[in-house]
Amino acid sequence: MASVLVTRHLPFPALERLAAAHAVETWPGALPPSPTELQERAAGAEGLLALLTDRVDAELLAAAPRLRAVANLAVGSDNVDLEAARARGVAVGVTPDVLTEATADLTWALLLAVARRLPEAAAAVRTGEWRTWEPAGWLGLELGGATLGVVGWGRIGRAVARRAAGFGMEVLHTGRTGGAPLQDILIRADVVSLHVPLTERTRRLIGQDALRAMKPTALLVNTARGAIVDQVALRSALAAGEIAGAGLDVTDPEPLSPDHPLLSTPNLLVLPHVGSATRSARARMAERAVDNLLAGLAGEPMPFPA
Ligand code: DGY
Repeated sequence: MASVLVTRHLPFPALERLAAAHAVETWPGALPPSPTELQERAAGAEGLLALLTDRVDAELLAAAPRLRAVANLAVGSDNVDLEAARARGVAVGVTPDVLTEATADLTWALLLAVARRLPEAAAAVRTGEWRTWEPAGWLGLELGGATLGVVGWGRIGRAVARRAAGFGMEVLHTGRTGGAPLQDILIRADVVSLHVPLTERTRRLIGQDALRAMKPTALLVNTARGAIVDQVALRSALAAGEIAGAGLDVTDPEPLSPDHPLLSTPNLLVLPHVGSATRSARARMAERAVDNLLAGLAGEPMPFPA
């Protein structure tokens, strides 16, 4: 029986399997532990079930000398220093596939909301700005015949593209084989949707130049990681009408403070990182995280390695 630290209360059946096999300690807070608190709690842990809100870096690994296995409750692993983990012989696992459809659905929810200006239109109902049927009020983008640019041709990007067929959209995508260059996509797409992992190569991939390359009628949707977009540049682009709108499920930092300047820009919808937030996706993510941890602690290869 190994000692395992779980960094948040996870109300999913998979945790019972973990508790039956190992001595589990769960961080009691509703908010993530600070780096110092995490280091203290992980000091004697052999297994760690971490969230994307935890930084699993060289300092944490140094503070947790017995650590052998880290299961990240996310498909992304940008919160984990994979090189440092590899150097220490700590196995790291993630939760692919099970959140693909949920995240693609949420991408479309954002896309539709921003294309049809739902945040502004719904606000008008509450503020009394809705006075009559407006022939030219809240005009948005018609998706049929429009072009969707998918940046990142992995599982989620493809699932987003599949849905576009039902809307009669043309799809362009980046990709290592057979994709279009990013610049072509920025220039041609009516909606640019981001689905790349956050790496040093993709950090601030969408900055001032990229936003200026987009059509003034185009929309940006980000359900990947906040730091892929330069938010200062996005704010200027929205304010100056260089693009028509943006839907973000992810920001940098998270959470974004309610008085953050970005939030005062027009036709912007920001959600609190809920891409995978369906009951079944989150329960299955927990299953995968527990499968990874059980395998890693048994000295076996993790079924879903990072
Ligand atoms: C992930 O798994 O990386 C997501 O961002 C969480 O939904």
